[in-house]
Amino acid sequence: MMKILVIGSGGQLGQSMMEFFHETSSEVVGLDYPAIDITNRAQLMNSLRDIQPTIIINCAALAAVDACEQEKEKAYAVNAIGVENIALAAQEIKALVVHYSTDYVFDGDQDTPYVETSRTNPLSVYGQSKLQGEILLQQHAEHYYILRIAWLYGPYGNHFVKRMLALARERAKTQEPLKAVNDQWGTPTYTYDVCRQTWQMLQTRPPSGIYHSTSEGHTTWFEFAQEIVHAFGIQVPVLPCTSQEFPRPAKRPKFGVLENQKLKQLGINMMLDWKVSFYEFVAKYKAVL
Ligand SMILES: NC(=O)c1ccc[n+]([C@@H]2O[C@H](COP(=O)([O-])OP(=O)(O)OC[C@H]3O[C@@H](n4cnc5c(N)ncnc54)[C@H](OP(=O)(O)O)[C@@H]3O)[C@@H](O)[C@H]2O)c1
Repeated sequence: MMKILVIGSGGQLGQSMMEFFHETSSEVVGLDYPAIDITNRAQLMNSLRDIQPTIIINCAALAAVDACEQEKEKAYAVNAIGVENIALAAQEIKALVVHYSTDYVFDGDQDTPYVETSRTNPLSVYGQSKLQGEILLQQHAEHYYILRIAWLYGPYGNHFVKRMLALARERAKTQEPLKAVNDQWGTPTYTYDVCRQTWQMLQTRPPSGIYHSTSEGHTTWFEFAQEIVHAFGIQVPVLPCTSQEFPRPAKRPKFGVLENQKLKQLGINMMLDWKVSFYEFVAKYKAVL
């Protein structure tokens, strides 16, 4: 019987994980900051010794990409050292670690999807700290899965879909156009699908390693914004703009598209076309969003 500990259980992905694993009747415990602080090795170790999970699902991170540029030390403490601490503790209690990384470990200069073996070259502090976390986890853990995901949305937390909806509803009153970047490509990925993919890994136990786990297909933020407005039936003009018109503290990859090559080779890819998943999400949550 698996005993699952979700760390970062109050975050966007963490809440979805808690809900998902409750629904599968797994034994699942959730912890979040400050009840658990992954940067504090001794406190983390004590918690894990008490709980004795067989699976640790780490959803804890400093995931605010722009904030990481200003909070470099904190970004490394959480996204790199925190992950090393989890790896070391997991080794002691012989637990398997599931961890989530990002398309931002790549520079996006390629014009074809990145596979697991593609060269990493992060452009931001967030991407660099997440890459360091991947490296440390691989060094210190024996049984682990690193799922690289991207452009996450779901019922919980704050993300592009919710921000666009709020803005679109506001702008609909005045018909002031909404603008979204049309020169960055990526793949919107539904938290529920990441949970399902995680579950699949735990059932089939492929070899430890890095797995790309985003939805299929790709789009731009502009096209995604158009789809959001359309799906929620909001009458507002949406216009494309360039990244230069929308300067942000952190540089983003231009083409952050991942190919789930290893999952497909092993026949365990659960990820769907991004539009199929997005409309599944809309059907389930339209009334409450
Ligand atoms: N969001 C995306 O679009 C996206 C894309 C690619 C990859 N990812 C990855 O997916 C994972 C989940 O992201 P998310 O969007 O769910 O992030 P999130 O909503 O920001 O959740 C992160 C959680 O981690 C907690 N946390 C922060 N510092 C901690 C610490 N020192 N100890 C313990 N918990 C701590 C946060 O608590 P507080 O709120 O109290 O700080 C929060 O509950 C992350 O690894 C992220 O890098 C996300």
